[in-house]
Amino acid sequence: MTRILGIETSCDETSVAVIAGQGDDVDLRSLVILSQDVHRVFGGVVPEIASRAHLTSVVPVAAQALREAKLELADIDAVAVTYGPGLVGALLVGVSFGKAIAFAAGRPLVGVHHMEGHLFATALEHRGAVPPFTALLVSGGHTMLLDVEAWGRYHLLGSTRDDAAGEAFDKVAKLLGLPYPGGPHIERLAASSDAGRYRFARPMLRRDQSPGDADFYDVSFSGLKTAVLHAVRAGTGQLTGAPTDGGSLNDADRGAIARAFQDALIETLVEKTARAASQFDRTRVVLGGGVACNRTLAAAMRQRMSALGADVFAPSVRLATDNAAMIARAGLFHLERGERAAFDLNAYASLPLPGLVDASAS
Ligand code: KG4
Ligand code: ZN
Repeated sequence: MTRILGIETSCDETSVAVIAGQGDDVDLRSLVILSQDVHRVFGGVVPEIASRAHLTSVVPVAAQALREAKLELADIDAVAVTYGPGLVGALLVGVSFGKAIAFAAGRPLVGVHHMEGHLFATALEHRGAVPPFTALLVSGGHTMLLDVEAWGRYHLLGSTRDDAAGEAFDKVAKLLGLPYPGGPHIERLAASSDAGRYRFARPMLRRDQSPGDADFYDVSFSGLKTAVLHAVRAGTGQLTGAPTDGGSLNDADRGAIARAFQDALIETLVEKTARAASQFDRTRVVLGGGVACNRTLAAAMRQRMSALGADVFAPSVRLATDNAAMIARAGLFHLERGERAAFDLNAYASLPLPGLVDASAS
């Protein structure tokens, strides 16, 4: 059994976790997530503030994670840390801290790609969420549709051409005069409204697309955002070019627009995921990333996949959003493969997903 301490500081949560196990038999011993609420005031994450907040919280957060796991640093077998992609200053805090404790404890260090962490998150809660599966990763910064043949063997089938799914939720929330981050607010509002008053086109989703087409799996949400903008302007009687004031919309209009936006986004993601599951004959679909907190998305995915005979695994809120448990879990996989990071490990704002294989090579 291996005990791993994971560290995640790529964006606005400072998180440290301890897991223990081997292979796919892994237990979560502790998970501490400190969300930096300060960014709400600014309507988005302010990188410099994020780095400073990580700096003040990473040590107490790690101490708390060890305490909850009833372990000392000396009991840890390895340290896993996110080294990209993300905000480079924020990442550097975790990377430097990870190096320091790995060095002090005389333990190996493993660098983890943030999105690979999201791929592993659901496996911590659902024993069935292991490869092969179709994965839909939807967060504030990324939207990726993958075929996961095995851990460490990923076919990237599609991604977003512009805004990430979470980013679309956040921008639309802003247009509607809702607080940041917008996802949960949109979901709540959409639930209060019936479908039908507005209908936005499903972006990049057409029946005549086939697997060889570049847009068969890709998604695009900026057009949908513009459709919302026009609906908000029409609803508030504003002229094109005037500043948009979604705050002055009446509740019924705001709910109807939120509902139509969410319906279009969800149908698009669900259909693209269904295409991937059928093309690769997968019987499991795994969701990850902050947008996977959206219960309407998970329910729509379950309904669509039941027609294909596939099970859907969605993580709970604390494992869907950024957390260090998923980083420790992905770190264990790399550690078991004999991979170690050197003490000159750096942080990267962008970083290719490891283990990508050519879709035609399987
Ligand atoms: O994975 P995450 O915590 O951070 C990134 O790595 O980006 O994802 C945050 C994103 C935000 O855009 C937020 O609006 C979205 O996840 N989100 C949701 C919901 N909860 C969080 N989107 C839709 N519905 C939700 N219930
Ligand atoms: Zn994330």
